[in-house]
Amino acid sequence: MKWRWLILFLLTFFSLEAEPGEALIVPPLREGRLRSDGVREYTVTASEGELEFFSGIPVPTMGYDGDYLGPTLHLRQGERVSIRVRNSLRETTTVHWHGAYLPAEADGGPRQPIGPGETWIAEFTVNQPAASLWYHPHRMGTTAEQVYRGLAGMMIVTDPSGPAGLPDEYGIDDIPLVLQERRFSRDGGFRYEPRMPDIIHGYGGNVLLTNGGIEPVFRAQTRLLRLRLLNGSNSTILRLSLPEGPEFIQIASDGGLLSRPVPLKTLVLSPGERAEVILDLREQQGRNTVLQAESSFGAVYTALLVNPGDELRNNGELPSRLASLPAAEIPRAAGRRSFVMSTMGPGGSLTINGRRMDMARVDERVAAMSTEVWEVSTAGMMMNTPHNFHVHGLQFRIIDINGDPPPPELSGFKDTVLLWPGDRVRLLMEFGEYPGIYMYHCHLLEHEDAGMMGQYEVLD
Ligand code: C2O
Ligand code: CU
Ligand code: CU
Repeated sequence: MKWRWLILFLLTFFSLEAEPGEALIVPPLREGRLRSDGVREYTVTASEGELEFFSGIPVPTMGYDGDYLGPTLHLRQGERVSIRVRNSLRETTTVHWHGAYLPAEADGGPRQPIGPGETWIAEFTVNQPAASLWYHPHRMGTTAEQVYRGLAGMMIVTDPSGPAGLPDEYGIDDIPLVLQERRFSRDGGFRYEPRMPDIIHGYGGNVLLTNGGIEPVFRAQTRLLRLRLLNGSNSTILRLSLPEGPEFIQIASDGGLLSRPVPLKTLVLSPGERAEVILDLREQQGRNTVLQAESSFGAVYTALLVNPGDELRNNGELPSRLASLPAAEIPRAAGRRSFVMSTMGPGGSLTINGRRMDMARVDERVAAMSTEVWEVSTAGMMMNTPHNFHVHGLQFRIIDINGDPPPPELSGFKDTVLLWPGDRVRLLMEFGEYPGIYMYHCHLLEHEDAGMMGQYEVLD
């Protein structure tokens, strides 16, 4: 219902004729290099590039180790990693490891800028459950444009102690899908030129890119197909479905596996959120399955065509139990804070608790290893604007949404939660051991750049 309500505010863009049918691009998997000191080392370089999304029309882009998007980094639970980031852009950037538990100085937020020509090294020990995370720039005020132009990549954490039976052959039955709505002009160009309404409503578009391609085809060879879905759009909320296909079986949310598989007809992802789903293709042999994506700006896209072969290999059975998650219970001594996300705060801007982001101001101070309840709500004159709330440096649990317990697909570990206009959510925050300053913000990137962000400091 809320979805329909939002559609009333859709912006209408003309549509471009896509040339569907190209094979899905699967970003290369980076295993890193294990050094003699036991640290696994990776290198990624941010640079400018050029890509023809529509043939014959080259568009200036940005990418990590390529023209658009970046490699998938494979991290292993328990290992120490060192990621070298080279900046070959002509402007300052940062690289933030979204969803990772790590020391503040390795977080890659606005406090860790990398100037043109510089190299920055993030070092940390992987200490979190298996999950689909991602990385992207986070420069103060220009995050949206750098992500828009192509700087983003997936980061997969694996843990051998997880349940058996889940598809895990990267590129074969375990596929990352970076979904991004983009706005192309009539000449096939691709510019980031937000105006005032785009800052309030977000920079919607008229083309959906799936791993940088348009309506790509994936040829499935197995009965079970695992998709690691990321909404990498700037401000577009996506509602995904399989109109003629099987149900989604969601197995993981942002921070890792759910306690058990959750069958779903539709899946809503706001910017920055991830979901891992299994498609059971047994009944789909010989016919295309369409992954449909409906944009909060009104467009309906084919995100992917899954083309199952006639002989699908049996690649296991889905386990009925995935993870044992602790109950999201509020300890007696838990501190409480509230956060109001407002679209028209004092001064006509986008604020949290009436304030715009200021790098020189720490908004909240929390104790290391403590637990708190954070209540997040929305307000403002522009009541039609949804937001989401993302926190760096930890994975939280949703206690309730408008007073009701979360549905099973939102009951696991999360780092980003969607708030429709008027929503109120309570989050169980368990702070970690690393002292330092981390961000919380709306992940609608136009809102974030406009100042809908704050800083919290973990105190020793
Ligand atoms: Cu995905 Cu503050 O970031
Ligand atoms: Cu983040
Ligand atoms: Cu917002």
